[in-house]
Amino acid sequence: MGSSSIWGMMRTKVLIVTLLFVAFNVMVFTLLYTFPSVRSNVSYDGKAFIINGKRRILVSGSIHYPRSTPGMWPDLIQKAKDGGVDVIQTYVFWNGHEPSPGQYHFEGRFDLVKFIKTVHQAGLYVHLRIGPHVCAEWNFGGFPVWLKYVPGIEFRTNNTSFEVAMQRFVEKVVSLMKSEKLFGPQGGPIIMSQIENEYGPIEWEIGAPGTNYTLWAAKMALELDTGVPWIMCKQDTAPDPIIDTCNGFYCENFHPNKPYKPKMWTEAWTGWFTQFGETSTHRPVEDLAFAVARFVQNNGSYFNYYMYHGGTNLGRISAGLFVATSYDYDAPIDEYGLLNEPKWGHLRNLHKAIKQCEPVLVSSYPNISWPGRNQEVHAFTSKTGECAAFLSNYDPMYPTNLTFRNVQYELPPWSISILPDCKTVVYNTAIITSKSSTAQMVPAGVELKWQSYSEEIPSAEDNDALKVAGLLEQTNLTRDNTDYLWYLIQVNISSNEGFLKTGQWPQLTVMSAGHALNVFINGKWSGSVYGSLKSPKLTFRGYVNLRAGVNKISLLSITVGLPNGGLHYEKWNTGVLGPVTLKGVNEGTRDLSNQRWSYKVGLKGESLQLHTIGGSSSVKWVEGSAFAQKQPLTWHRATFDAPKGNDPLGLDMASMAKGEVWINGNSIGRHWPGYLASGQCSGCSYNGTFTEKKCRRNCGQPSQRWYHLPRSWMKPRGNLLVVFEEWGGDPSKISLVKRTV
Ligand code: GAL
Repeated sequence: MGSSSIWGMMRTKVLIVTLLFVAFNVMVFTLLYTFPSVRSNVSYDGKAFIINGKRRILVSGSIHYPRSTPGMWPDLIQKAKDGGVDVIQTYVFWNGHEPSPGQYHFEGRFDLVKFIKTVHQAGLYVHLRIGPHVCAEWNFGGFPVWLKYVPGIEFRTNNTSFEVAMQRFVEKVVSLMKSEKLFGPQGGPIIMSQIENEYGPIEWEIGAPGTNYTLWAAKMALELDTGVPWIMCKQDTAPDPIIDTCNGFYCENFHPNKPYKPKMWTEAWTGWFTQFGETSTHRPVEDLAFAVARFVQNNGSYFNYYMYHGGTNLGRISAGLFVATSYDYDAPIDEYGLLNEPKWGHLRNLHKAIKQCEPVLVSSYPNISWPGRNQEVHAFTSKTGECAAFLSNYDPMYPTNLTFRNVQYELPPWSISILPDCKTVVYNTAIITSKSSTAQMVPAGVELKWQSYSEEIPSAEDNDALKVAGLLEQTNLTRDNTDYLWYLIQVNISSNEGFLKTGQWPQLTVMSAGHALNVFINGKWSGSVYGSLKSPKLTFRGYVNLRAGVNKISLLSITVGLPNGGLHYEKWNTGVLGPVTLKGVNEGTRDLSNQRWSYKVGLKGESLQLHTIGGSSSVKWVEGSAFAQKQPLTWHRATFDAPKGNDPLGLDMASMAKGEVWINGNSIGRHWPGYLASGQCSGCSYNGTFTEKKCRRNCGQPSQRWYHLPRSWMKPRGNLLVVFEEWGGDPSKISLVKRTV
């Protein structure tokens, strides 16, 4: 055999092996990415959701994809699955996806398709709440700010401009889902969708235009033909076949508006969100489990934990009024992605117990009896003879002995026992058998060496300032591209002003619609004010040191998230709307409101992109202690190597006051440890009706001291950490911490 034919044979062999290899990989890839491509036919009846002919009790958990990073998603979803969750529920965040009209963004944290596919790969279902109103403590309730400036628009009513924009976005999302084959009947994981969000109370308030809008929204959604049921939460006017559902701390007494719709609880609040200036809320898991068991024994067949993982308001996504950066929510998975025990484990055990009862729960209605005071029994018996019972003690104080089928059962106060065979108690909502653990913040052993740069205070005469008579609304100028707007004015003080001789300085009064304000007189800080948790409005009053000649008054007005709901919240204003007056001058009070003002949108540091690696090198930073003087409006930066290991990381910001933080150019959110939590922190017992005012934590402490630094945004070496501080703080005391259990 000649050498050329040996080479020929070898080439053929290599070719065959290569082809086999490619074919194998294609097969593996196809299996991986199409699994599980079982088509789900979804319908419902008065008992439950029906998937492929089978009624189901569905355990669901909210995870909002942009409140974590794609790198965290697989682990969060797996932990939800391990916790007995069947469905992941998320809103769709319009303002994240359409930052300017017609320009869509579905990348990174906003890669909705990737998120849904990740859920699918874990073998779970999706409840997609398209809204597009989301509430959710999310900036502007999920609506893009440009929407507010569409001529003639009114939000959430039968207004053509609004409906056109809403329909375009909903259609965009549905067609994206369809093109990726993500709806159940296409083999995808989405088994239900939501249109609007808690519209019932608004419809009730505005009457006919609201009713017309509801009918329009329902028709529009149904015509999209997704093949899966639509839901309207907290809206008893939901037209057929849309299912109306309940949101709240308890939903056992809720009934859908038609007997042929299943009883669904779209938001079982696992805790509550935190606001800057407010305490944080802890919902004891015994009470949450009690509420869920109570719902299920009363014919409930779908419940969703809002939130199962709350996550972080990364960037500037949190809403007014002053919603904190942490959206931990006391959820079963904590902000950092760790299990919040014993909540996670106790709920997992509840789900196991409920699933043991599932066949009989979905095939029968309970026989209810009241064997004693505050006692209730729900006994389910199927045609085939299976039996399951829920025994309740509603007494908030005392345990009880309850007799069921001649057997005595002892029940702690405010609790339910589950007996999947009507004999054996496998679970009691008040008896925690799963492990407890406490997460801690421990120093990560990384030294941060800081440099600083002072933000410039602009002048009313700057060429690039906008000059107009009168005070302008803030969002109209910033379009919410930044929290900051400068209001600048020059005030002439004649040398014969009386106060120059007496030394009794005039009083400056600035009235603002919110949310926070820093006042500078001739370049010197003169005070900071901010709204309260009752109202974003604020008033600055201070005696100001003015001199003869030209004086510069520079007001830095700051927003902290736009409102996320309420009647016509598109009409709410922010910024210094006046009056602005100077009292104690020769003429008495000088009204500055209608004089010529100059405006500058954003900070100089923002336009220089000081938070990015490229931008940060455009200015000269000062080393050492110069910045430790708690100087307001200062940028700080430090470079560090990531600590080894996988523990989630955070920043202890207790020494700082208010501003924003970035890691490698990505904003991890606003910090505001300077706003201390007011309120009463008395003891916390699980028993008795829960509200968000109960079981508060953190009184007198910063509302949020620690800030999550996602590992996925870090590289092993040379990470750039940038802090912008509005009030002044001591960066040398910022420390990098690991969260460990
Ligand atoms: C609900 C709303 C949710 C969220 C929740 C409070 O009323 O539907 O989006 O805002 O309140 O966390």
